[in-house]
Parts: sequence; structure tokens; C-alpha cells
Amino acid sequence: MNLTDRQYFALKRAHSLTGVVPIGLFLLEHLFTNSKALQGEAAFNAAAAELARIPYVGAIEALGIWLPIAFHMVLGVIIATTGQANLGKHGYARNWQYTLQRVSGVLLVFYILFHTWMTRFDSDYLNSVSAYAFVGEQISNPAVFAFYVVGIVSACWHLGNGLFGFAIHWGLATGRQAQRNASRFAMAVFLVLTIVGLNSLLAFAGKGIYPDWLTKPHGAEHGPVVYEGGQH
Ligand code: HEM
Repeated sequence: MNLTDRQYFALKRAHSLTGVVPIGLFLLEHLFTNSKALQGEAAFNAAAAELARIPYVGAIEALGIWLPIAFHMVLGVIIATTGQANLGKHGYARNWQYTLQRVSGVLLVFYILFHTWMTRFDSDYLNSVSAYAFVGEQISNPAVFAFYVVGIVSACWHLGNGLFGFAIHWGLATGRQAQRNASRFAMAVFLVLTIVGLNSLLAFAGKGIYPDWLTKPHGAEHGPVVYEGGQH
């Protein structure tokens, strides 16, 4: 199929946009929900059940998550396998970042298919008494655990570094200093999301790091708070 320059440009813009909205936003939501595992089995299971009860959830998932991911994935594979290397056009670090963007994208194809197959499309998982325990059981296999680590780091790199590409493609960072700032921001997003993602993975193995100073008293599971004036 031959595309005109305009059509190709529009497709690239749609590819770039879907990477941030909705896929990037979904990744943030996903890491947030998974972090509930730090608060224990009951907290995570309640969060998963809450999501499953969203009205029209099947349609929202299909149109708001699967369709954009399928589009971004298919076009991403085409770009990653046919796009020209841009060696020499940019600095050394930039080239590496761009190469890793493509490599992480290809890794994500395998990871996303594996991960959704093992959870969202697995009837044992969907009907399990405890989603938390089910995932904990899965990652007790070292090979599965290792693949989850690779998948999480790839997704966080791909979104973090992808935000830099997004800022360039949409003209949000044009000057030198603005591009340097965008690059720093992208690496900060990558690091923070990686820590959050890996910590939530460890939480499913009961080994997440959740120090007291990151909690608030009202977040603890306890009975009604009793003040001197009575119950509240
Ligand atoms: C966690 C899921 C994913 C997220 C959050 C995501 C997000 C993004 C973002 C934000 C960008 C930057 C857009 C831009 O440069 O303007 C991007 C670019 C890219 N994505 Fe993804 N993506 C995901 C999955 C995938 C998958 C599965 C592939 C398959 C190969 C892929 C391939 C690519 C490629 C090749 C680019 C660079 C496009 C270019 O050359 O300009 N992505 N992605």
C-alpha cells in the first residue's frame, strides 16, 4: 500500500498521540492500582474488584485500551522494522535513546501479549478467589518474575523516553535548553515509574518496600476513629 506524505504524517501523529493518550495514561493507572498490593492482599483485591465493576467496563477496555494499543503496536512494529536508522543525525546519546525506544517497543509486544494472556484472558485468573494470590503464585516462577521485570522496565523506559519524542514531534520543546529539560524530565519519569513498578511487583511476593513515612494514619485498616467528643 502506498501512502501519500500527508497520510503518513497523519498516521505518525496518531501513533505518537495514542502512545500518551490513552496508553500512557493507562500505564499510570495500572501502576497506581498495582501499588495497592503494597497495602496487602485485601487492598489489592478490593481495587481490582472496583475496576471490574466500572459500568460498561468491557466496552471501555476494548475501545479505550485494546484498540489504541493494537493500533500503536502494529504501526510501531512497522516503524521499528522499516524506519531508517538516524545515526549521525543526532548526538550519540540521542541515537541510543531512540534505538532503545524501538527495542523496548518490540519487547513490549511480547510482554503485553504474555501478560494479558496470563491475566485478562485467563479464566482461572478471572475466577480466582484472590487476584493478589494468583499473581503471587505466577511470579514465584523465576522465569516469569524475570520476564515481568523486563516488561516493567521496558514499559517505563518506553513511556518516559517516549514523552521526550512526543515533546519534539509536537513542537513542545523546540530550543536547545527546552530539549535538554524535556530529556531530563523523560529520564526522571522513567526512573520514578520503574521504582514504582518494580516495588509493586515485589509487593505481590510480599517483599514490597513500604516504610511508615509513606503512609498516613487514616490509611491503616482500623475501626472507627474515636475522638473525645464521640465517634466519627
Ligand atoms: C506500554 C505500552 C506503550 C506505551 C505507553 C507507548 C508509548 C509511546 C510513546 C509516548 C511514544 C512517543 C511518541 C513520539 O515519539 O511522538 C512511543 C513511540 C513509539 N512506540 Fe510505543 N508505546 C507502547 C507500546 C508500544 C509497542 C508494543 C510498540 C511495538 C513495537 C511500540 C512502538 C513504538 C515505536 C517504534 C515508537 C517510536 C516512533 C517513532 O519512530 O517516532 N510502542 N510509544
